This record gives sequence, C-alpha cells and structure tokens, in this order.
Amino acid sequence: MCGIMGYIGEKQAVEILIGGLQRMEYRGYDSAGIAMLQDQNELHFKKVKGKVLDLKNALKNGELNSSIGIAHTRWATHGIPNETNAHPHMDCKNEIAVVHNGIVENNRILKKELINAGHVFTTDTDTEIIAHLIEELYNGSLENAVQNALKELVGAFGIAVLSSKDPEKIVVARRGSPLVVGLGKNEYFVASDPSAIVEHTKDLVFLDDDEMAVLTPQKMETLNCENQPISKKVERFEVELEAIEKAGYPHFMLKEINEQPSTIFDAMRGRLLPQKGLAKLGGLANEIDHILSANQIYLTACGTSWHAALIGEYLLEQYAKIPVEVEYASEFRYRDPLIDPEVVVFGISQSGETADTLAALRLAREQGARIYGICNVVGSTIARETDAGVYLHVGPEIGVASTKSFTAQVTVLTLLTLILARRKGMLLEEGTKWCQSLEKLPMQIEKILSQNQTIKTIAKQFSQTQNFLYLGRGYNFPAALEGALKLKEISYIHAEGYPAAEMKHGPIALIDENMPVVFIAPQDKTYEKVASNIQEVKSRGGKIIAIASEGDTEIAQDVDHVIYIPQTERFLTPILASIPMQLLAYYIAVERKCDVDQPRNLAKSVTVE
Ligand code: M6R
Repeated sequence: MCGIMGYIGEKQAVEILIGGLQRMEYRGYDSAGIAMLQDQNELHFKKVKGKVLDLKNALKNGELNSSIGIAHTRWATHGIPNETNAHPHMDCKNEIAVVHNGIVENNRILKKELINAGHVFTTDTDTEIIAHLIEELYNGSLENAVQNALKELVGAFGIAVLSSKDPEKIVVARRGSPLVVGLGKNEYFVASDPSAIVEHTKDLVFLDDDEMAVLTPQKMETLNCENQPISKKVERFEVELEAIEKAGYPHFMLKEINEQPSTIFDAMRGRLLPQKGLAKLGGLANEIDHILSANQIYLTACGTSWHAALIGEYLLEQYAKIPVEVEYASEFRYRDPLIDPEVVVFGISQSGETADTLAALRLAREQGARIYGICNVVGSTIARETDAGVYLHVGPEIGVASTKSFTAQVTVLTLLTLILARRKGMLLEEGTKWCQSLEKLPMQIEKILSQNQTIKTIAKQFSQTQNFLYLGRGYNFPAALEGALKLKEISYIHAEGYPAAEMKHGPIALIDENMPVVFIAPQDKTYEKVASNIQEVKSRGGKIIAIASEGDTEIAQDVDHVIYIPQTERFLTPILASIPMQLLAYYIAVERKCDVDQPRNLAKSVTVE
C-alpha cells in the first residue's frame, strides 16, 4: 500500500527513483510524486494525479537533476487521489519533504495541535501532519526531529524524509510498514519493497519496527527511536531481474498464471519424500510436536489467502483430525477469540505484510499462542515476526490478483496436512498416493494451460455480462469463492461464490438467461449432487460453464461449455480448478479493456487496517 523510494549517492537520482516506483506500482497507483534537493539544497518537487508514467511524462527534461531524492506512488487513504494530496508532503516553509506509507491514526488530534501552533495545512492527508510535526520539533538535526516526531505518532508507517535545513541526508523510519535500505558503493537506496532496487543492489538491510536509518552518500547509521545505534545484518537478496519482469507476456497476471507448473514444483521442491509417503517442512520441523498437541488450530488471513485457509481447514480436520477455525484476520482481532497456550495460530499471507494478518498474529502471541507464518515474500514482517514458518517459494507475484501464490498456499497446506496426518496414523500407502498425486500437479497444470484458446473463446462470449455465480461443493466451495474474487477484482463484474447446494436457499432467485454460472464439478463423491444443481440452473435458463473431470463426456450435454481438468485426489481439485478460473477472469478483463495488473482501487500489499 503506497510505494516509497529514495536515493542518495553520486548518480542522477530521477531515473532511479522513477524506475523504482514503476516496479512498486502494484502497491498503489492513483497518484505519484518526487522531491529532490538541488540548486544549493533547495527542495524541488513534482506531483501528479495518475500513474508513475504520468509523473515521468510530466517531468521536463533536466527539470530535476540531483543525486538525492525521495519519491512515492500512492494508494489513497486520507484525501482523494489528486495532485495536491499526492506525496511528497511539505512543512509550512517547503523545507521538509516526507513520503509515507501507512496511516497516522491520531491525525485529527495532532492536526489540531499543529494548527493551534500556527501551522498551515494545504492537503487532506494524514501524511502532511508528519512534515509539520518534524518542522515543529526541528532543533538543528533532522534525525532528532524525526525521532521525536515518531514518539508522537500513533499508527503504522514507513517514512522517508528530506530537508533543505539539514541537507546531504535522507532519514528513513519504520513502524508497521515495510522499509528496506539497499547498499551500493557510495550510494544508498530506500524502498518499500526489495524488487524496486534489486537491479541496483542485492545487499539489503530490512528495518524493523521503531528503527531508523540516516543515510549519507558515504554511510548508513541505524538507530532506534531513543537515538541508540543498533547493528543490522546485511542480507543478500537473490532474486533475478527476470523474475520481476513480464518476460514477453502482456501482463504479469498472465505470466504468473503460466508459471504455475514450475511454482507448484518449487513449492514442493525438497519437501516431498515419496519413498516414505511423507513430506518435510524444514521451517516447521521443530514445531510439529507442538502443533500435534494443540487443541485448536486457527488459520487467519485475508482475501485469496483466506480462501486457501478454508481449504486448509477442510484438509487438516479431515486428515490430521485437529479442530481448525479459519478467521478473517480483521475479524479475529476484534472478537476476543479464545486463545491460550494450547492453541496455535497460522497467518497465511503472500506479501507477509498484510496489516490485519500481522495484527491478528501479534494478538495471538500476546495471549500465549505460538504463531506461524505461511508467506511468499522472503524477509517480510510476518516471516520475521512469527515463531516459525514456511515459505511458498513462488518468486515475486506482481499482478495485484493473486494466482500462483494461491495454488502454492494450498500445496503447502497439503504438505503440512500430510506430515500431521502421517503422525496421526495415516498409512504409508496413503501417504505415498498423496505424494504421487502431488508430483503430477505440474504436468496436469500444463495440460490445463494448453486449453487457453478454448477459455479465451468462452471469455469473449461472457465479457459483457453483469453478474456471475461460482458454485462448488466440499473442497471446491472455497475454490468457487476464489474464482469469483478473481473475476470481480480484475473485470469489475459482480461475482459471488457459493456452496452449490446453498444455491436453492436464495441465490437461485437470480438465475435467468443472463446469469452465467461456473460449476466446479469434478467426478468425486458429490458429483451426482452437483449434477442435480446443474439441472436446477439449466431448467431456469442459466448459462453454465462446467469445470469437469477429463473423460466426463456426459456433462457436456447439460452445460453450455466444459473446461476439463485431469483426475486427481479430491483435495487437490481446487488447485487444478483454479487455473481455468484464473484464465477466464483474465481473458474477460482483457476483453473489457480493464487494467489487469493494476485494477482500480486495489493494491497488492494492504498495509493499513
Ligand atoms: O499478501 P496477502 O496474501 O496477505 O494479501 C491478502 C489479500 O489482500 C489478497 O489476497 C487480495 O485479496 C488479492 N487481491 C487477491 O487476489
């Protein structure tokens, strides 16, 4: 949510800053801005409503030329997206510039106090308060003023600050929102996400909460809020540039959908032990006894990750026989859940930065539970703060709509279930069968992807529809929820997911010839029941797209379109069924000329509660 970028060194900063913002645009893209110190240390800035490209186009040749600057791409919270509310924000005298990611929760009180002290505000943002607060507290040292300002601020933030009063330095600080410093030769980079700077350096320092860094071209000083020096580890970030580029695909989302044969493989790499009918998850190896002794597992997450958690619940209860509750992280926090040391809590999050999930985990820890993370982004806050965890290993996911991280989350939850279930008495033969089925997934996904053209044709036919229903039973109910979420977030078509049998308790009233219904209907134990639900829709004129098992030729007689997925274990069908649903959503969105990778109002990493 919002991307922060900063550079101090010997090179021209403008291109570095704009390039970094473009790589972080998935974090927010309603307005953008840049501030630089130049012409005898004066602050110069440019802001626009719109995307980073609009900012780039608005800059006149040579207008900004300096080797020190900060920049920002915004996802609006306080104040509509316009040029005025775009960051950087300034103090009264235009001597201090601040870019900010997060929310200042006590903004009203602080604003009142600052206005009473004579400060004049020009924007509707909470961020402007930070600039004025630093101005108010300035006593000759920018870092001291920032430190003192941090003591007054309540909320979550990552900030980068530049001042003409104390030039030749950038001060950055973090509480709750991610911030990383990249180390070069006589230069430093600042970003909300390593992918923004990985083309310049792979040596990174991740700031933790209430830590700050003071950067000059020659050195980096890391401090806590009490002005005490702290030593930070330099971590090597091994992501290659290709992983964060489109590689010839028109959109990141399509690239990421197509990567799934290899990302599923990577999520299982070194973790499957087919001979033993077992799996291993190194990060959780020392926790398995504790998890097995728990009387309750909570899985907490948001959005797509919450859908993966629902599938995890079905798996863990059915096979590991441990009671599981799945909670929206935002609800978990505020409903006084029953947490004690007998409970374990998993946070599932692609980004590892989702504010609600992080807050839910922190609450669980406070109340005595051990907390675990299932994350994709290496070094993310959830990954670092939890007692133990598992990485997805699917590489950077840049399209705002989650695809490859969802299938990997389900894969990892399946591996975890296998480990626990074998300890709970699952036989070797059954474990071996699970391993064999898991090993087949990459090849089976390839096969589904090869139906790309069929799915594209179906998508064309339904691109102008207003509504969609997605129905499935058992493991495929959460898959239906995920299919519906994919469609609505990138195509803006209203879509709902339901358990197929639940349709007759209400949603069936919506069925007519204008209502397309996607049925996930593999040949499993609920097949006959789903077939009846298909008839119920058919007899009311609904248009049906069935995702069915290969070889099921009969179903074609009852539906308008069939997309086939290979046979697999029942609990693995959500992985296979989600691939055609991702493609369907993608092609519909493209047909409707929607901005697939950066859908309106969304951001990839939701770091505000
Ligand atoms: O990074 P996380 O997995 O914690 O993100 C959770 C949700 O914000 C995310 O899944 C969101 O729903 C995506 N846009 C779904 O495609």
